Amino acid sequence: MTKLFEEKYKNYNLYSYEEKYLDIGRKIIEKDYMVMEIYKDTNRNYVAKIKIEDNFYVLKSPKSEVIIPQRKIMTFFKDGEVLNTLKNLTLGIEEGIEEYVKPLLAIVKKKLFMEESYILMEYIEGEKLKSNSDIDKVIEITKKIHGNNRYHGDLNTSNFIKVKDKIMVIDTQGKKDVLFGLKKSYDILTLKKDLLVLELNYSIDEKYIFNKNISYYLAYILKEGKNLKIIQKFRDFKKKLRKKGWKI
Ligand SMILES: Nc1ncnc2c1ncn2[C@@H]1O[C@H](COP(=O)(O)OP(=O)(O)OP(=O)(O)O)[C@@H](O)[C@H]1O
Ligand SMILES: [Mg+2]
Repeated sequence: MTKLFEEKYKNYNLYSYEEKYLDIGRKIIEKDYMVMEIYKDTNRNYVAKIKIEDNFYVLKSPKSEVIIPQRKIMTFFKDGEVLNTLKNLTLGIEEGIEEYVKPLLAIVKKKLFMEESYILMEYIEGEKLKSNSDIDKVIEITKKIHGNNRYHGDLNTSNFIKVKDKIMVIDTQGKKDVLFGLKKSYDILTLKKDLLVLELNYSIDEKYIFNKNISYYLAYILKEGKNLKIIQKFRDFKKKLRKKGWKI
């Protein structure tokens, strides 16, 4: 793997495999950029298209690590999401998953725990998926990712962008499945519930065959569990508390 450049700027650490993006990082910290479009702005996540010196990028700030106590505590021991994602996706691309949208830079403000973090991604101008053959390509790419023992984590068609006849993958941390296929199974179970997949009546089972081992059934229980009424109620209750300012 190529060298990771690291630099301190103000209270932040900048990381990139290409030195030129450290410059861009300093500009982002100085808020010296234009926001072109906000794709997402919730208490969990911020995603926007930005412009710096005539170039477009996507800036993403995952906030779960900062607001959820049990995740924040883990950042004492671990690198944190954005730096891991920069490393995982870069390695994944090197190992042949060229469909991953390229991560360019990670920005981290961490004292003992994570305080603030950003990942800068290449901006992809493209279209949403719509057809059966688009989903065929999603399956192909998924097989490639899984073959590399990685998983997506939120495998649905809105996390792919179509560029001419190519399809690119976004919204993944590129992590390895260290749970003996459980995460891969979870990916497939997620894709089966995707809106476009359901609308087109697309059969995932016919296109992606894998042996249903214990991990698959565990993933199935986890996935179905999320839909159970009692668990739904518990989640609604958590949501209510969150609105009241509880950090759970
Ligand atoms: N690199 C990119 N190039 C172009 N558009 C992007 C890029 N990354 C994200 N987007 C747009 O921003 C949206 C949200 O980004 P992303 O999926 O990474 O975040 P998210 O919070 O997980 O969103 P969601 O919950 O909707 O899946 C995407 O659906 C896509 O439209
Ligand atoms: Mg998404």
